Amino acid sequence: MANDIIRASEPGSICVDDVTMTFNIAKEQFNSLKEYFIAMTRHELKFKPFHALKNISFDVRPGESVGLVGTNGSGKSTMLKIIAGVLSPSEGTVTVNGNIAPLIELGAGFDRELTARENIYLNGALLGYRKEFIEENFDRIVEFAELQKFMDMPLKNYSSGMVARIAFSIATITEPDLLIVDEALSVGDQFFREKCERRISELVSSKNVTVLFVSHNAGQVKRVCERCIWIEKGNLRMDGPSVEVADAYANMKR
Ligand SMILES: Nc1ncnc2c1ncn2[C@@H]1O[C@H](COP(=O)(O)OP(=O)(O)O)[C@@H](O)[C@H]1O
Ligand SMILES: [Mg+2]
Repeated sequence: MANDIIRASEPGSICVDDVTMTFNIAKEQFNSLKEYFIAMTRHELKFKPFHALKNISFDVRPGESVGLVGTNGSGKSTMLKIIAGVLSPSEGTVTVNGNIAPLIELGAGFDRELTARENIYLNGALLGYRKEFIEENFDRIVEFAELQKFMDMPLKNYSSGMVARIAFSIATITEPDLLIVDEALSVGDQFFREKCERRISELVSSKNVTVLFVSHNAGQVKRVCERCIWIEKGNLRMDGPSVEVADAYANMKR
């Protein structure tokens, strides 16, 4: 343990040590909520454990850029949520140092009933920005998102791509110690995705920001990340230079 703390004591460092995540999932399917409640009150609900992540270990150095690949349902988002502190691992430890800007679930940290303007303040506060800081940087955030005309519209009228624009713009207005980007961005249009990739690359080359990035695009992982981790069906399958890992993933036998 003491060793882990030393290894992950610099801002932007991550230490994932033997992490297993187990979810309890229902053993049988119910046709209606009524049947479900009857089974529940009779204590007849049966669960089986499902291991979404199995004994995963890796360290990330400050300033490193790491791509995360794996087929759907392999545990990538679960891993990111554990690193961001949204979920606690069933077994093992994760040590993260520094402030994290997580872009994991689209719309998390937003209130759909509020306007985009109000949401920028709300989401900024959740990321730990002071009100004055958001005031000073408000125009830059809106400009990057290219949504100047829509600031007073409630977020519920935004498309998912528009929400992604705002979320990315707020999260990257400063340099976080650790930027976590799940597939959230894949809902944006091609132009905005390219703009995000340029911004992420900028943060990567600053060497001040650790980047963890889920993408299904092997070319993008190779462009943005020096290293890539492949998690497949809950197991760590490969961890190495992205040129090797992203290609191995893309050429996997299905
Ligand atoms: N809260 C949960 N309860 C039960 N199962 C879950 C939960 N969250 C994720 N899972 C399951 O864990 C597995 C990994 O999910 P996820 O991390 O979202 O995969 P990925 O992001 O790689 O597509 C999936 O089989 C998913 O159904
Ligand atoms: Mg996912």
